[in-house]
Amino acid sequence: MDFGAGDGTYAYRLAKARPDTLVLATDANLDAMAEISQRASAKPRKGGLTNAFFGRIALDESPGDLEHFADSLSVILPWGTLLAAVAHPKASLLARLFSLLKPGGTFEILFGYSECADGVMVKNHRLSPIDDTQLRALERSYRDVALSVKVRQASNYEVRLVPSTWAKKLSYGGKTRTFVRITGVVPVSSCETKK
Ligand SMILES: C[S@@+](CC[C@H](N)C(=O)[O-])C[C@H]1O[C@@H](n2cnc3c(N)ncnc32)[C@H](O)[C@@H]1O
Repeated sequence: MDFGAGDGTYAYRLAKARPDTLVLATDANLDAMAEISQRASAKPRKGGLTNAFFGRIALDESPGDLEHFADSLSVILPWGTLLAAVAHPKASLLARLFSLLKPGGTFEILFGYSECADGVMVKNHRLSPIDDTQLRALERSYRDVALSVKVRQASNYEVRLVPSTWAKKLSYGGKTRTFVRITGVVPVSSCETKK
């Protein structure tokens, strides 16, 4: 499941590369996915895929009917409230996000910002500058809700390799940002995170 999927490019490419895997792309705003979901519903010779689905869900409505739905979850270069939820996390929002995963499910989050490039968003969501202290604080926030995580800085080159529209926009855009990659697993024993 790709959460905050934007135009759905990342999910579409994932589904194409892994025909045996069901991929669900979701976003609070479905309009941006219209084009790619139309392509995915075409005949296979025209880019159609039988394993890619697109739907609307905002973080504050999650998990809805999708509780414990996914084996793996990605959040790639979120902005707005989704960025705030993963970069300056509150236990209740992390619980909403990670209850989409099955016990033992894995997740990957990639985000980036800088005060120079994203001043308004940084100010509105009170995002802290990303340094070692902040990375360790982030790790603690995730561990506090019983998630096993690795948090590290990611390079601009690494972001370039991610096949999503915003990965290309941000990594080739010329503005300097610090990127963070968080990978982890939801425990098998207690899938429910503390609320
Ligand atoms: C910069 S775009 C990235 C899109 C895509 N992941 C990519 O890498 O191209 C951020 C996306 O996060 C979505 N988003 C922001 N807040 C959200 C929320 N609270 N719930 C779900 N999606 C949200 C936006 O609608 C937008 O499509």
